[in-house]
Amino acid sequence: MNTLNKVTDTVIIHAQLATMDTSVPGAYGTLRDHAVVISGGKISALVPMAELKVPPDAHVIDAQGRWVTPGLIDCHSHVVFGGTRVHEWEKRLCGVPYTEIARQGGGILNSVRATRALSEDQLLEVSCERVKALIREGVTCLEIKSGYGLSTEEEFKMLRVAKRLGQLYSIEISPTLLAAHAVPPEYKGRADEYVDLIIREMIPHAKEQQLAEAVDVFCETIAFTVEQCDCIWSAARQHGLAVKGHVEQLSPSQGTVTLAHHQPWSADHLEYLDQNGVNALARCGGVAVLLPGAYYFMREKTMPPVKLLQQAGVPMAVATDMNPGTSPFCSLRLAMNMACVLFGLTPEEALMGTTRHAARALGRSGHCGTIAVGKVADLLIWNIDHPAEIVCSLGVNPLVHRMFRGQLDASQS
Ligand code: NIG
Ligand code: FE
Repeated sequence: MNTLNKVTDTVIIHAQLATMDTSVPGAYGTLRDHAVVISGGKISALVPMAELKVPPDAHVIDAQGRWVTPGLIDCHSHVVFGGTRVHEWEKRLCGVPYTEIARQGGGILNSVRATRALSEDQLLEVSCERVKALIREGVTCLEIKSGYGLSTEEEFKMLRVAKRLGQLYSIEISPTLLAAHAVPPEYKGRADEYVDLIIREMIPHAKEQQLAEAVDVFCETIAFTVEQCDCIWSAARQHGLAVKGHVEQLSPSQGTVTLAHHQPWSADHLEYLDQNGVNALARCGGVAVLLPGAYYFMREKTMPPVKLLQQAGVPMAVATDMNPGTSPFCSLRLAMNMACVLFGLTPEEALMGTTRHAARALGRSGHCGTIAVGKVADLLIWNIDHPAEIVCSLGVNPLVHRMFRGQLDASQS
């Protein structure tokens, strides 16, 4: 018989657990008819129902045989921005390439103008709906990048908004400094000087003010060179920040190989990644973050080398890349669906990519991403017959309850 200790506050009973824990045998790490015991916002035990003894003072949630998964993790997003780029999308549909629009001063720089025009409070207001949409479909941890400010003041404004979103809503935010997203207009033709500013001012101050936990870059012909990115990654590591990169998205650059020297959390996009890059990622233990939304909206024809990544045993995460230019949608379930339909992942791989592997891509392996003892009680109860439905059936929301740190969301308790 399993005895639960006194601090137990909540027990979810009669649940089919898709633990996503690979040490639990079987698809999705399934544990049938189990209880999840929660103490102090963390999972303290997983108990077969036949062995459960519920303490009299515990709050009991009867899942009634429903599936329970870990909270979903969106490990790559740009949800804080002003304005829209819908006019550019119309142009792109008529055949004008994204890179051409960027070279003419549009693209990311259009969003920079619109973001700079907003006060911090206004920026918070326009970003709220995006976060709420992600929360509604089960996201409990969200990475948010800066990158539409491109000055110390404006980048930090974005990062403060990201932080405030985590204080306003029941969601954990992982803020990332992406100052190297584009060369700002003030530094046109002087990219190295801007890189210097990032290294000397933004990275140390972001660390000091605890505004970012990682540093990202856009390593691309229309953005920053591999050498510039290398310097930024080195500085970030020296200041104790994690690193990641938008690499090999639009063209091959060997950026991933260089990134791999810095023990990255992840390498993201990867449409043009080659075997060399795959091997480097496998060696350094970084996660490959697939962003099928950007691939879809860009009408890209080159796919990330999913088979090579699988063969090399590189963990693959899946994220929305929610942003106004290349991936303007707020649905991690849609991103998972695209990862299956466009990139050939199985639904189980897609769900792994937004739970276990996404946690790793945010340096949170021991903290969230699976249903296991010691992990935070960020849990979702779904009205589905099979976990693949989370990935397959779009347009209806089968999420019944969302729990963050052991507390059900207010509207659902
Ligand atoms: O992840 N590739 C660079 N950054 C974003 C696009 C940003 C934008 O176009 O606004 C991405 O696709
Ligand atoms: Fe991105």
